[in-house]
Amino acid sequence: MLKEIFEQPTTIYDCLRGRLDAAAGTITMAGIQQYADQIINANRIVIIACGTSWHAGLVAEYIIEDLCRINVEVEYASEFRYRNPVINKGDVIIAISQSGETADTLVAIESAKEKGAIILGVVNVVGSSISRASHAGAYTHAGPEISVASTKAFTAQLTVLMMIALKVGYMKGTLSSDRYRRLLNELDAVPEKAAWVLNHHDHIKAIAEKYKDARDFLYLGRGYNFAIALEGALKLKEISYIHAEGYPAAEMKHGPIALVDENLPVVFVATKDMYHEKVVSNMQEIKARKGKLLAVITEGDEMSKSICDDVMIVPETDEVIAPLINVIPLQLLSYYIGVAKGCNVDMPRNLAKSVTVE
Ligand code: G6P
Repeated sequence: MLKEIFEQPTTIYDCLRGRLDAAAGTITMAGIQQYADQIINANRIVIIACGTSWHAGLVAEYIIEDLCRINVEVEYASEFRYRNPVINKGDVIIAISQSGETADTLVAIESAKEKGAIILGVVNVVGSSISRASHAGAYTHAGPEISVASTKAFTAQLTVLMMIALKVGYMKGTLSSDRYRRLLNELDAVPEKAAWVLNHHDHIKAIAEKYKDARDFLYLGRGYNFAIALEGALKLKEISYIHAEGYPAAEMKHGPIALVDENLPVVFVATKDMYHEKVVSNMQEIKARKGKLLAVITEGDEMSKSICDDVMIVPETDEVIAPLINVIPLQLLSYYIGVAKGCNVDMPRNLAKSVTVE
C-alpha cells in the first residue's frame, strides 16, 4: 500500500501524459471525443460505481455540474441495479471501476445499456469486463493496484474525471477559456505537488502515532472536499479497523456533534476554497466541545493552523483540483495508523480487492 501511495506522482503523470498539453491548451481523449456531442447535449449524467470509485464519482458530480452545467447523479451500483431506475435514451452513464470486474457495476451498466444509455467507462484494468461492456471511455493508467485499499487508482480516476469535465466544459462553452487554461496548468502541476506532500510523510507518521488508540474518528469536509472526507474515513476503517464516519461539515450539527468529546479526533479537509470561512467556523465548534482537531490545510494558512491540534499541510492549488492532492495525506494517515496498530494493511480482514459476486 505504501508503495502504491508513493507511486502517485508517477501514476498521475502517466494518466495526464499524451492527453493534457498545458502549453497548447488541449486535452486529447479519443474515447470521449467520439461521444462529445452526446455528452455536451446530455440531459443528465449518471455515475455508477462502488466503494472508493463511488467517492471519485461524488467528486466528479460537483466538478461536472460546476464546469459543464449538466445534471449529474451518483449511484451505488448495487442500489441502481435493483431499483428500477428511470433511464432515458441519450442519458450518459459513467461507470468507474479500478478492476473493471465489480459485479454490481457490471450488471448495472448492462441494464442501462439495454435502455438506450451511452456507457463511458473510467477503468484501470485494460480489457476488463466493464471496459468491454462500455461504448467508450478512458483508461486510468495507474498500473496494477495490488493492495486491497485503493489509493493510486482513486487519484487516477479523479485525474481522468477532471480532464473529462474540463474538456466538456470548454467545448460546451460553460467554462471560460481563461479558467480552462488556469485549470489545465493546475492539473499539470499535480504530480509535483503530490510529491511535495509525500516528502512530508514523517510528519503524518508522527500524527498517526499520537491518535492510533482512538476508538472512533469523524471526517468532515464541504463542497469538493466532502467526498474526500468520506474517502478518508473509508480508508481508515478499511485498514485500521477503527470506526470512522465521513460527513458534510455543516451537517455535523444534525447528529455527529453529539459524539464529540475530548477523546474524538475530528479530521477536517479544510483547504482554502469558497467554503473555507464556514469550515473554519465548523472547526471552532468542534474545538469549543474539546474534540481533538486535525485538518488538511493549505500551506500558509496560519489561522487554521492556530486552532488545530495537528495539521497536514498541502500546497495551494485551485479548489477544483484540490481533492486530488488533499486525499494523499489522509491515505498516509490511515496507512501509518494501520501499521502502528499491527494490522495487515495490504490485505485487511474480510475485504477483497475485486468483488465479482453480488
Ligand atoms: C472493493 C475494494 C475497494 C473498491 C471497490 C470497488 O470493495 O476493496 O477498494 O473501491 O471494491 O472496486 P472497483 O474495482 O469497481 O473500483
